[in-house]
Amino acid sequence: MATATAPGKVILVGEHAVVYGRPAIAAPVWQCVATAVVQASTPGSGISISAVDIGRRFSLQEADADEPLGVVVRLAMAHLGVQEPPDLHIELYSDIPIAGGLGSGAALSTALVRALFAYFGRIAEPAVVSAIVYESERFYHGAPSGIDNTVIAFGQPIWFIKGKAAEPFWPGAPLTLVIADSGVRSPTKETVGAVRHLWEQETARCEAIFDAIAGLAQEARQAMEQGDWRRLGQIFDANQTLLEALSVSSPTLERLIEGARRAGALGAKLSGGGRGGNIIALVEPERVEGVSAALKEAGAQRILVTRIERRSHSPLLR
Ligand code: PMV
Repeated sequence: MATATAPGKVILVGEHAVVYGRPAIAAPVWQCVATAVVQASTPGSGISISAVDIGRRFSLQEADADEPLGVVVRLAMAHLGVQEPPDLHIELYSDIPIAGGLGSGAALSTALVRALFAYFGRIAEPAVVSAIVYESERFYHGAPSGIDNTVIAFGQPIWFIKGKAAEPFWPGAPLTLVIADSGVRSPTKETVGAVRHLWEQETARCEAIFDAIAGLAQEARQAMEQGDWRRLGQIFDANQTLLEALSVSSPTLERLIEGARRAGALGAKLSGGGRGGNIIALVEPERVEGVSAALKEAGAQRILVTRIERRSHSPLLR
């Protein structure tokens, strides 16, 4: 039997612009995880997959060719060079909200690939896992930038530019984020499509917004490496304004963001595709309770608090 987990993720700066080649920064969120358990099953039974949290249970042989989890298993098996279809039962669990901008799909796929590698006694290098998950994400997301699968596979904050090797890095001091779920589900494919539509209508304006976001991402990396949380908070706020200009914010998200700022957050923004999903607020540790209470008051459905700090090794390697 083999078990593996993968974290959720947040984008700190640069969502959407990253699809157009600009840099972005993302970090894992270990307070919500996906888990995969792979075990041998009765001879001749083939591969069965059960994902209770998303209500899916199927046998790989009978699954449609584009069944997302089936695609992941087939890609991983091909990579592992497993010829004969083995008899396996795979259980998947996740407490990462679906379509909430926390990378639920990529996390499930990552846990699945890592558990399959472990089952067959192979080391799951982050770059290899990330490439397999990206291949599967392309199947049902169109053309994602690849930031989700990359940050989740590395389990560490990353500086990311589409098509280039990710640069994992650590902040200069621990940083605390309060993550609040609006409860509104918003598929990334739709918001990415909306930005594409806007870009086709108003290319020059959108390109200028993407450039401004790229500048913020550069500054954010510096602020993170220096532990300058006041500056990073201002960058969150400026990035939020630019995301509003790209039409991916919403009154519900803005109510949460305003609530967090009024309660003393250093800055706050939507994270991920937008129009729903989660917002992130950068807070000093002593303000976590006050900001969380304000977010609840403003309608947050679920609150997570995460601390991003240097570790001697990624929890993925435990
Ligand atoms: O999966 P989400 O909702 O965190 O969004 C991913 C970030 C986008 O930049 C909006 C899309 C992408 O492919 O990078």
